[in-house]
Amino acid sequence: MSQAKLTLDVNEKPPVLKWIILALQHVFAMFGATILVPILVNSAAGETVLTIPVALVTSGIGTLIYILCTKGRSPVYLGSSFAFITPIAVGAIKAGVGGALTGVMLVGIIYVIVAIIICIIGKDWLSKILPPIVIGPMIMIIGLGLAPTAISEIGISSDILNLDYKSIVVAVFTFVITAVVMLNGKGFLKVIPFLIGIISGYILSVILGLVDFTPILEASFFSIPDFILPFVSYTPNLGAAMVIAPIALVTIAEHIGDHTALSTIIGKDLIKDPGLNRTLLGDGIATFAAGLLGGPANTTYGENTSVVGMTKIASVWVIGLAAIFAILLGFLGKFTALVSTIPNAVLGGVSLILYGFIAVNGLKVLIENRVDFSKSRNVIIASSMLVLGLGGAAINISTVTISGMSLAAIVGVLLNLLLPKDKEENEEDEKKVEDYNIEKEGEESMEEIKKEDIVVLDHPLVEHKLSILRDKNTGTKEFRELVSELGMFLCYEAMRDAVLDEVEIETPLQKISSRRLNEDKYAFLPILRAGTGMLDGLIKVIPNAKIGHIGMYRDEETLEPVRYFFKVPSDIKSREVLILDPMLATGGSGCDAIEQLKKEGVKKIKFLCLIAAPEGVKKMQEEHPDVKIYCAALDEKLNEKGYILPGLGDAGDRIFGTK
Ligand code: PRP
Ligand code: URA
Repeated sequence: MSQAKLTLDVNEKPPVLKWIILALQHVFAMFGATILVPILVNSAAGETVLTIPVALVTSGIGTLIYILCTKGRSPVYLGSSFAFITPIAVGAIKAGVGGALTGVMLVGIIYVIVAIIICIIGKDWLSKILPPIVIGPMIMIIGLGLAPTAISEIGISSDILNLDYKSIVVAVFTFVITAVVMLNGKGFLKVIPFLIGIISGYILSVILGLVDFTPILEASFFSIPDFILPFVSYTPNLGAAMVIAPIALVTIAEHIGDHTALSTIIGKDLIKDPGLNRTLLGDGIATFAAGLLGGPANTTYGENTSVVGMTKIASVWVIGLAAIFAILLGFLGKFTALVSTIPNAVLGGVSLILYGFIAVNGLKVLIENRVDFSKSRNVIIASSMLVLGLGGAAINISTVTISGMSLAAIVGVLLNLLLPKDKEENEEDEKKVEDYNIEKEGEESMEEIKKEDIVVLDHPLVEHKLSILRDKNTGTKEFRELVSELGMFLCYEAMRDAVLDEVEIETPLQKISSRRLNEDKYAFLPILRAGTGMLDGLIKVIPNAKIGHIGMYRDEETLEPVRYFFKVPSDIKSREVLILDPMLATGGSGCDAIEQLKKEGVKKIKFLCLIAAPEGVKKMQEEHPDVKIYCAALDEKLNEKGYILPGLGDAGDRIFGTK
């Protein structure tokens, strides 16, 4: 995870004016997509199922609920989810508006159940049920399933005989503007291409006389949104449950992906803190509340994550104010009436990109996770899902209907669990999980390192020498010389804070007062064996330093250090000790050496190594924060055998030619 430099951290509140401007930016970012959901659901269902004001209010309320559930630690905005457009429309056709809204509430309950299970047994099971081969096709189905809606909105579907050229011009114009902003937009504009497209298309529609302003004239300035409440407006029923609820499987995966992306942007692992259980709980209760009030299911909004990334402002105060603005917008009657007058052609123009965009994201999941389509099992899973999801399948079992998209999700999950993997695939999967865990550990340690307490030599020559050292073709003689030489460079750096004594000297020309190092104040302690390789270089620089030895090797199984020798100068406690070891891997050996020295009464210790792993640095900084670490390179991570990656291999063996 890259370390982000935030202008404002999660809990920091900006000054009032800036706060309002930043919050409005978030409202703009979420607005286009959030209002599209009710419009498209109604268009697909052929009746009013959802309304724009309720969608805005439930998105705002949902975001506030999410902020509460995550204790204000995650700057996520929740807006209406595209994944549920078709399921809600189909659900409403099958089981009425009440049935569709019950389905939305059920999705919220599924999120909460998953959050509770994660709390109890962790989250690894999720990736087993929802691997990329299931998620990728599912996202494609969500996008492509919406394609016919876009086509009929533009007015070019095969059943339309008389083309309305004005509508086609508006749709093409909206498409072009959206595409141009996506391609060339700078800064904030790049985050709101759909909104810009809609506004531009709307203006052209007004010019071409395609907009009927009556709803705006008739609307009052303030109006209470048409909330649809259970037991008041309808009796909850599970008629659409199997059409809507299974999609939760996919949006949960989307939730994890979005939080992982945001974590990278803000340099804080949200999956750990506040934790996936809390973020899912927040998203789940928000979606339940949305269904309860008559709104669409919520989801984490990538548009707002982009705003956080661009502004470098991760303040939840800003997100919270944006949520309040969204709620207020829902009560502005004239405004929501204006939005409802957007012609279909405008929506068709943006949808041309938007739906494909969703589908392309599904492809990205498959490509980025290197799903291998030469394996028949993957072909079977993806093919059956795509056909079921896009072919208009629906199974009626008594009063319950399972529609195409949900059927595809269920079949995908089952096929993935049931179809046997060949041995090679199993091993590959295990390796992927192992690599992922190792990488995560390395990344997490890297994040937790106190960078100010570690000195990494930053010099082209050091980099050059290291490059030769790392090369597996470098022979013993050259390797040994380089270890010694780099040891010398490290010694120069470690002595930067040395206090020098004043002395009088005479140059061939005159007497001067000069400064010299009292070499008797130092001792070197190489960790046997490999540490002795660095010793030569240090002795060249401070020849009078005394030398102790600590012998230890790492147990190959446990990676714990096993000590076999310890001999140090009798006056060691009055000396500053430089511990030498080319490799700081798990940190076990280094920490043990420091402990022994501290037991001897040594007060000032420095640790010099050629290559450090983040895991070892973290351990040493935690156990011995007083010991400064000097290294020539801070590498990525450890592999499963405790070797540093990319590293240089086994330092001891390469110095002494023992392998
Ligand atoms: C290597 C290295 C360090 C230790 C680092 O020594 O020189 O002493 O491993 O690993 P750690 O940080 O995980 O403890 P090794 O045990 O291979 O012994 P050697 O020097 O005799 O080769
Ligand atoms: N010890 C080594 O010599 N090399 C490593 O990469 C780790 C520990």
